[in-house]
Amino acid sequence: MAKIAREKWKTYNNVFDQFTHRNLFKLASEGFFEDLKSTVALGKEANVFTAAKEDGSEVIVKIYRLENCNFNKMFDYIKQDPRYEGLNKKRREIIFAWTQREFRNLLKAREVIRVPTPLKCKDNIVVMELIGDVDPAPELKDAVPANPKKFFDEVIKNIKKLYKAGLVHGDLSHFNILNNNEHPVFIDFSQATTTDNAEAEDLLKRDVGNIVNFFNKRCGMKADPESIISKIRKS
Ligand SMILES: Nc1ncnc2c1ncn2[C@@H]1O[C@H](COP(=O)(O)OP(=O)(O)OP(=O)(O)O)[C@@H](O)[C@H]1O
Ligand SMILES: [Mg+2]
Repeated sequence: MAKIAREKWKTYNNVFDQFTHRNLFKLASEGFFEDLKSTVALGKEANVFTAAKEDGSEVIVKIYRLENCNFNKMFDYIKQDPRYEGLNKKRREIIFAWTQREFRNLLKAREVIRVPTPLKCKDNIVVMELIGDVDPAPELKDAVPANPKKFFDEVIKNIKKLYKAGLVHGDLSHFNILNNNEHPVFIDFSQATTTDNAEAEDLLKRDVGNIVNFFNKRCGMKADPESIISKIRKS
């Protein structure tokens, strides 16, 4: 790592807790990025940044907060996931499992649909591909597609492919779909779960409901969630 970058990292001491700061520094030393660039979002549980690599390209760094996050809610969700049975109700363990689940889900999802390529997971941090040409692509809520029906069909096809591969997103909405040059890219996979989860069918229903609502209300479509869900289940 260049000396300037090393000095710069010292100034982040006051921005992150010590544990996160150390992890970020380690990831930077390992070459996953050189420096954080700008804040993309300060979410409920995570802060999302763009980061510059030495070669000038950019990646996304998603940092789950160790404090000020609702780990009780995280625990209620993740304990239903058969992959995380027996997880202890300890703050850090839950946050690290939650972070790892996002990484694992992205790895699985990318086998069947376009999602950000996961690059590294370390405790409470996920590094992933930045979706967008230069800047991050806009969320669907801020970039209504030019051809809503075509975009909607692609979204449903993605849900179907994920379901067939044994995964339900679980937090799908116009906030967690990016409009990347008129093609949908699903993001924010920390809530995604396997279809053997007892809650999976309800989550699928909610995902489809959110999407249908958005397109019906914002784009004047007349999609029927029930028939779409039964087609997905039959696939
Ligand atoms: N890989 C990515 N490429 C481009 N933009 C991204 C990427 N990941 C996240 N973003 C942007 O950052 C925002 C927040 O990210 P994300 O949805 O993953 O976190 P969040 O909603 O804060 O998460 P959580 O609900 O788990 O706390 C997204 O809505 C999107 O605008
Ligand atoms: Mg989100």
